[in-house]
Amino acid sequence: REGGLLDRFGRVATDLRVSVIDKCNLRCTYCMPADGMPWLPQSQLMSTDEIRRIVRVAVQSLGAEELRLTGGEPLVRKDLEFIIAGIREDNPDLPISMTTNAVGLDRRAQALKDAGLTRVNVSLDTLHPETFAELTRRPHLDKVLAGLQAARAAGLGPIKINAVLLRGINDTEIVPLVDWAVSNGFEMRFIEDMPLDGDRSWTATNVISAHDIRAEIETAFSLAPDPRGRGAAPAERWEVRRPGETAVAGHVGIISSVTEPFCAACTRTRVTADGKVRSCLFSHEETDLLSTLRAGADDEGIAQVWRDAMWAKPRAHGSDRVGLARADFVQPERTMSAIGG
Ligand code: GTP
Ligand code: 5AD
Ligand code: SF4
Repeated sequence: REGGLLDRFGRVATDLRVSVIDKCNLRCTYCMPADGMPWLPQSQLMSTDEIRRIVRVAVQSLGAEELRLTGGEPLVRKDLEFIIAGIREDNPDLPISMTTNAVGLDRRAQALKDAGLTRVNVSLDTLHPETFAELTRRPHLDKVLAGLQAARAAGLGPIKINAVLLRGINDTEIVPLVDWAVSNGFEMRFIEDMPLDGDRSWTATNVISAHDIRAEIETAFSLAPDPRGRGAAPAERWEVRRPGETAVAGHVGIISSVTEPFCAACTRTRVTADGKVRSCLFSHEETDLLSTLRAGADDEGIAQVWRDAMWAKPRAHGSDRVGLARADFVQPERTMSAIGG
């Protein structure tokens, strides 16, 4: 095989997601256990230059068209500005986005923008300090809000807010979150909870479905399908109007990974913080790109290992309603934080 990252089902991965660190400064219950995470040793993490090299191979040899940096929490890496500046130097036109919890972003947003970061998606599940502390096990809501303001001031937009909905925790906040996001010029996105948590306490019955999310939003706003459509994005987008108004007030997205999976249109390839390619969030296989790189492979050698890994991408992730009903569904070993979201 030559060329791009093609799989057996005809999909081509052009959307690169690179985790830069497995550590995080929060402990969201749907993502990590409270303690006891087996952090990667420093020596196994990709260095600034190794990340730069891997992105260069993806863009220049494999046709990647956009890059998203993830974690853990990317801001935990002190060299993040250098990582981005290096990638930007190699790839002047590459859109570079980041998924972050925004803790500490107030002090770094401008430097990240200057280094070449294009935009951010910010994870924020609640506007209540107590709920935030319960859900993330850390009392940092103020820091997130400060980070968001700084990101907006630095021009790191359009900014999307990601909220995972949890029954009995934040499911009463759907309308307030839309209201708040629309008022602040953010795109609110609601995410169905996936079985990638650290405590293995996920249950299908606790998932708030896309259908129910939409119905709840429509108690207070009217929704119309976004004419721009969806493409390969995981979020189904809607225009939001306030009651009695004709102007579009903002947009919401709903990410229905469990009830309406979008695997058939998936364009993603992922690299973990220790340099392993995962063809899917729910893969049980990983391919060690970093060892290939450290063994001295040239760009084409790295690209070939990556192509082979993506060729084996599964058709679907198995955590949809059909897959989960099967007794043999096995949650991946790594939690969301270690995969990179
Ligand atoms: P945009 O380019 O801004 O649309 O970003 P994105 O939605 O691709 O990235 P983000 O990191 O903000 O992802 C939002 C959520 O989508 C994640 O938190 C996951 O819950 C979900 N998600 C991302 N990638 C995948 C995937 O490959 N499969 C599934 N099932 N869900 C995914
Ligand atoms: N299900 C769905 N989304 C998750 N995220 C983390 N864990 C899960 C899960 N179990 C999302 C967060 C954040 C991104 C890093 O991953 O909302 O936006
Ligand atoms: Fe950290 Fe994001 Fe996981 Fe929360 S969801 S623990 S912020 S990596």
